[in-house]
Amino acid sequence: MTPARPHSLCLLILYLTVGNGQDGKFSGPLKPMTFPIYEGQEQSQVIFQISALDAQGVTVEGPVPIIIEVKDINDNRPMFSQAKYEGSVRQNSRPGKPFMSVNATDLDDPATPNGQLFYQIVIQLPKVDDVMYFQINNKTGEISLTLQGARELDPVKNPSYSLVVSVKDMGGQSENSFSDTTSVDITVKENIWKAPDPVEIMENSTDPHPVKITQVQWNEPGAHYALVEKEKLPRFPFSIDQKGDIYVTQPLDREQKDSYVFYAVAKDEYGNPLSYPLQIHVKVQDVNDNPPSCPSAVTVFEVQENEVLGSSIGVFIAHDLDEINTINSILKYKIVEQTPKLPMDGLFLVEEYEGKVQLARQSLKKQDAPQYNLTMEVSDKDFKTLCAIEINVIDINDQIPIFEKSDYGNLSLPEDTAVGSQILTILATDADEPFTGSSKILYRITQGDKEGRLGIDTDLRTNAGYVTIKKPLDFETAAISKIVVHAENPEPLVSGVTYNASSFATFTLFVRDVNEAPAFTQHIFQAEVSEDVAVGTKVGNVTAWDPEGLEIRYSLRGDTRGWLRIDRITGEIFSAAPLDRETESVYRVQVVATEVGGSSLSSIAFFHLILKDVNDNPPRLARDYTGLFFCYPLTAPGSLVFEATDDDQRTLRGFHFTFALGSQSLQNDWEVSKINGTFARLSTKHTGFEERAYEIPIHISDGGRPPLEGTVNLPVTFCTCVEGSCFRPAGRQDGIPTVGMAVGILLTTFLVIGIILAVVFIRIKNKKDKENVENAQASEVKPLRS
Ligand SMILES: *[C@@H]1O[C@H](CO)[C@@H](O)[C@H](O)[C@H]1NC(C)=O
Ligand SMILES: *[C@@H]1O[C@H](CO)[C@@H](O)[C@H](O)[C@H]1NC(C)=O
Ligand SMILES: *[C@@H]1O[C@H](CO)[C@@H](O)[C@H](O)[C@H]1NC(C)=O
Ligand SMILES: *[C@@H]1O[C@H](CO)[C@@H](O)[C@H](O)[C@H]1NC(C)=O
Ligand SMILES: *[C@@H]1O[C@H](CO)[C@@H](O)[C@H](O)[C@H]1NC(C)=O
Ligand SMILES: *[C@@H]1O[C@H](CO)[C@@H](O)[C@H](O)[C@H]1NC(C)=O
Ligand SMILES: *[C@@H]1O[C@H](CO)[C@@H](O)[C@H](O)[C@H]1NC(C)=O
Ligand SMILES: *[C@@H]1O[C@H](CO)[C@@H](O)[C@H](O)[C@H]1NC(C)=O
Repeated sequence: MTPARPHSLCLLILYLTVGNGQDGKFSGPLKPMTFPIYEGQEQSQVIFQISALDAQGVTVEGPVPIIIEVKDINDNRPMFSQAKYEGSVRQNSRPGKPFMSVNATDLDDPATPNGQLFYQIVIQLPKVDDVMYFQINNKTGEISLTLQGARELDPVKNPSYSLVVSVKDMGGQSENSFSDTTSVDITVKENIWKAPDPVEIMENSTDPHPVKITQVQWNEPGAHYALVEKEKLPRFPFSIDQKGDIYVTQPLDREQKDSYVFYAVAKDEYGNPLSYPLQIHVKVQDVNDNPPSCPSAVTVFEVQENEVLGSSIGVFIAHDLDEINTINSILKYKIVEQTPKLPMDGLFLVEEYEGKVQLARQSLKKQDAPQYNLTMEVSDKDFKTLCAIEINVIDINDQIPIFEKSDYGNLSLPEDTAVGSQILTILATDADEPFTGSSKILYRITQGDKEGRLGIDTDLRTNAGYVTIKKPLDFETAAISKIVVHAENPEPLVSGVTYNASSFATFTLFVRDVNEAPAFTQHIFQAEVSEDVAVGTKVGNVTAWDPEGLEIRYSLRGDTRGWLRIDRITGEIFSAAPLDRETESVYRVQVVATEVGGSSLSSIAFFHLILKDVNDNPPRLARDYTGLFFCYPLTAPGSLVFEATDDDQRTLRGFHFTFALGSQSLQNDWEVSKINGTFARLSTKHTGFEERAYEIPIHISDGGRPPLEGTVNLPVTFCTCVEGSCFRPAGRQDGIPTVGMAVGILLTTFLVIGIILAVVFIRIKNKKDKENVENAQASEVKPLRS
């Protein structure tokens, strides 16, 4: 608290006790008194205890406390401690960091607004664009740079500034506040803590290291310096000493890393940074320490045979690790060697700076050299490198096949020369690279063999063509052929080259006539007729022709049954006898065609006559059933199984016979039942049969088209059995009816006739009655219809 000026307080009271917050005793005659009262105390209070006493000093009344509070009024002006302040600031100081302060005092109570001071910069000189470079803390009077001030202050531009600073009491908030002003002169000092210019270091330096490259300096002495890496490097080749000198500690390699950026920091003795770090840029300068390098161990180019002069074969580009676009990496090319030097040296040239390799002298021929090796010298400012180039000459199809001769002459062959025979060897040659599509030869017949009777196969090794017969020769259609053969490559020719007459050859083929046997149009002739065709019917024909055009005569061979006859002239075949499918279902004979005149050659074909079945055979018993018997006397009804057959062609499903008793009169004694298509069962219906042989008529129908049916007699004997076999007494002949039997037959016959007559009479009568009824109905219906 401020030492206050004493205030005076006069009291005019007779007797009083004075206490300053405590009890005090004072008594005596009343006289004026003075007390010092100090301002700024927590309780600016004075407490009195007043008592009234008589002359003997005995308290008459009291004591009574009297409290006096002392209140401040704004009765003091703030005053700056100096009429003029001077200070200095470093360029680029941290904004807001005070570098000086002004100080004013006010005697009024600082706990009241009366003593609260408010500082303010009133004027800044000079002031450009109304930008304040300085600011003041309105409570403490500390002066610092604004953001703009930190940025823009520059002692070179303006080394000093004047400010007018005011201070107001009452917090500057009242119109009644007092104020004071002072002037502040500020000198701007240069900041020496700033980033040095980028440093350039020659790479691959041979100087002893470390080498000083730059330095930094804090504004005041005594700072501690350090370097901080920006990028994490495997090794950091820089250091700094306590004078702020920065060193590179080893030779650098630009080809490895061409620039470095790191920070220098200044710290106080406690290790706190004094200011922002400075960025140090180091650029590594190139020296030509790298020779040019070849793109690969051997660079391979290819060039076609007929490329014209000046054609680009390829671009050769070597590399140099030194800095591009500097003299250190500008490369020059030169061809220093060519192998082989065929047909001459200097076939190739290279553009000095661009590396384009060109044909310099003439087109290349693979025949001269299929491959060239070049040595290319690549040089930069100081170094030379030799690189290998291989140039392969590619064959192109620029050569046509050329026949050894254009005419292979006359060739005479019998017309029966076998297919597959090799009849001529031809040869063309091609100068293109062997065993490629450019030199392989395909021979093609372009004229004289429309039918394709000849073919030419190429020997892939020698390119020889073998003319071979592919289809039979024929004197009659092509006795003389002038054959033209074209030799071609499978690959197309390069443009500008065409096949010419040398790629064609001819030969003449004379086919000698050979008397050939007649030829049938078919090897086997086939015909089909019904087996019941009339004798003399045409059943088929054969046709043959003679290559020489001679007349033909036909004859038959192998007509063992004499069924057929052939017309010698026309080849028509007729039946010569009744045919029977049941004897030969397919009748096979040979037909012979013989030429008339010439060598009377003949040839043979086959004639197969298929006979179609006609249902011309009634069914019959399949076997001779003579030994069927029942033992006499019959003890129980018995049965027998029999089988039927038919000589006609059976259908796919076999026969389908139906069976019935041949005579109704036997229905009381016998019964026939079908087992399946060919088998049936004959059963007795009672046991009362005589000891004799019976003939049981069985009716069998074959269901064919037309259906044929037959009645067969199945002989059954009733005989005395001896040990399971039939014992037949002598003197009795089978098949002769006994007397009883004859009478039975007779009676049965009459009975049957009687029944038939009765049936006939009844039917006639019924018919007459029916007609009468129908007529009556018709006449009744008539009127309705009209
Ligand atoms: C201001 O001046 C007074 C009197 O000289 C002194 O007591 C006080 O500490 C000063 N204040 C500052 C901030 O310098
Ligand atoms: C005084 O300065 C403080 C910051 O230091 C600010 O917040 C306040 O507004 C200022 N008072 C006036 C009246 O400008
Ligand atoms: C330095 O230069 C020499 C030749 O001047 C070279 O042989 C060496 O390889 C170079 N070193 C580096 C790191 O480039
Ligand atoms: C070219 O060089 C290769 C080896 O790189 C060698 O095999 C070849 O025979 C050479 N060709 C000629 C024509 O010299
Ligand atoms: C080939 O035959 C023709 C026609 O018969 C004849 O004119 C020519 O002289 C013959 N050529 C040879 C080489 O015999
Ligand atoms: C066909 O061309 C070849 C060269 O490709 C030449 O040697 C030959 O004489 C020519 N033949 C004819 C008939 O023009
Ligand atoms: C011979 O038979 C064929 C059918 O096989 C027929 O086309 C031809 O006209 C017949 N020829 C004669 C002469 O009957
Ligand atoms: C028909 O029946 C007989 C007698 O039962 C038998 O032997 C034969 O195999 C049968 N035939 C067919 C085709 O079923």
